[in-house]
Amino acid sequence: MENGCFPGTLIKQFAKDFTQAQDRSEWAEFAGGAIIFYNVGFRIKADGGRIQNGRQRHALNEPGHKTKEVILEISRAVERGQAIYSKPILTVYDLWVLGFSNKFIWKCPTYNILNNFNEHVSSNHLDIGVGTGYFLDKCQFGTGNVNIALMDLNQNSLDEAAKRIERYNPVKYKVNVLEKINIDTDRFDSISLNYLFHCLPGNLTEKLIVLDNVDHLLNESGVIFGSTILTSGVNTSRSAKALMRIYNKKGIFDNSTDSLDDLKKYLTKKYSSFSITTHGCVAIFSAIK
Ligand SMILES: C[S@@+](CC[C@H](N)C(=O)[O-])C[C@H]1O[C@@H](n2cnc3c(N)ncnc32)[C@H](O)[C@@H]1O
Repeated sequence: MENGCFPGTLIKQFAKDFTQAQDRSEWAEFAGGAIIFYNVGFRIKADGGRIQNGRQRHALNEPGHKTKEVILEISRAVERGQAIYSKPILTVYDLWVLGFSNKFIWKCPTYNILNNFNEHVSSNHLDIGVGTGYFLDKCQFGTGNVNIALMDLNQNSLDEAAKRIERYNPVKYKVNVLEKINIDTDRFDSISLNYLFHCLPGNLTEKLIVLDNVDHLLNESGVIFGSTILTSGVNTSRSAKALMRIYNKKGIFDNSTDSLDDLKKYLTKKYSSFSITTHGCVAIFSAIK
C-alpha cells in the first residue's frame, strides 16, 4: 500500500483491533492477509494523476477490431474509482480480492457470486466492470455459440479480461457507465455488474443510474445481476470496517453510505421482479424488467 498507509495506519489499526478483539482468530486472519497483501507488493495509487484538465482519451473497441476514439469528460472521483486497476494490481486481484478479502474480510466467499453468475448468465452476455474476467472465465455458458461483450473504463481491465477469455473472442467497450452509453450493438440476454457500484462515486441511488444507462442494452426478457459491498443493513466485520475506511479515504471505494435499503428501493421501483441475498457485507442481486 502507499507509503504512510501501510504499515503505519494499518498496523495501528491492527494493534487497536487486537487489544479490543473478542475474537482474536478474526484479527489474525485479517493481519495474515495484510502481510500477504504487503509482500506481493500491492501498491495503491488511486489518484494516479492520469487525468489532465478533466479530460481523457478513450478508445471504443468495436467488432472487427475497428477502434473509434472518443473524448469523455471524466470527473476526478470517477477516475479514482478505476485508477487502481493497473497491470500489477490486476495480477494480484484474484488472490487478494476474490481469494482472501471475499472470504475473510467481506465474509462472502467467491463461490456465492459465481453461483449467482451461473444461475443467470446467458450465451449472449455483457459484463460491466470486468476486472480480471474471473467470473467469465469460470462460469458455465452451456452449449452453442457464446457472444460476450466487455465494458469498462479502464483499458488494463479490458485487456486482461479479454486475454483471459480470448477463446470467446469478446468485444471490448471502453465506457464510463455513469454516463449515457452510446454504442452500436445488438441487445444482450444477460448483463452482469459485479463489484462495480462500490467503486463509483456518489450515494448509492446516484450510482444506480448505471442500471438506467444500460437498460437499452438488455433484451425485454433479459436478466441483470451482480453484487456490491455495502456498509449499512448488512453484517460488516470490524476488519471490513477498517479496510473500507482506508479504501474510501483513498477513493478506491466510495461506499460509506451505501445501504441495503437504498438498493432494495431502487430495484423495487425499476424492475418487475428482483432478488437480493446478503453474505457478510456483500449484496448479491438479480432482476428482470
Ligand atoms: C472491483 S473491479 C470488479 C471486477 C470484477 N467484476 C469482479 O467482480 O471481480 C471494478 C471494475 O469496475 C471498473 N470501473 C470503475 N469505475 C468505472 C466506470 N465509471 N465505468 C466503467 N467501469 C468502471 C474498474 O476499472 C474495474 O475493472
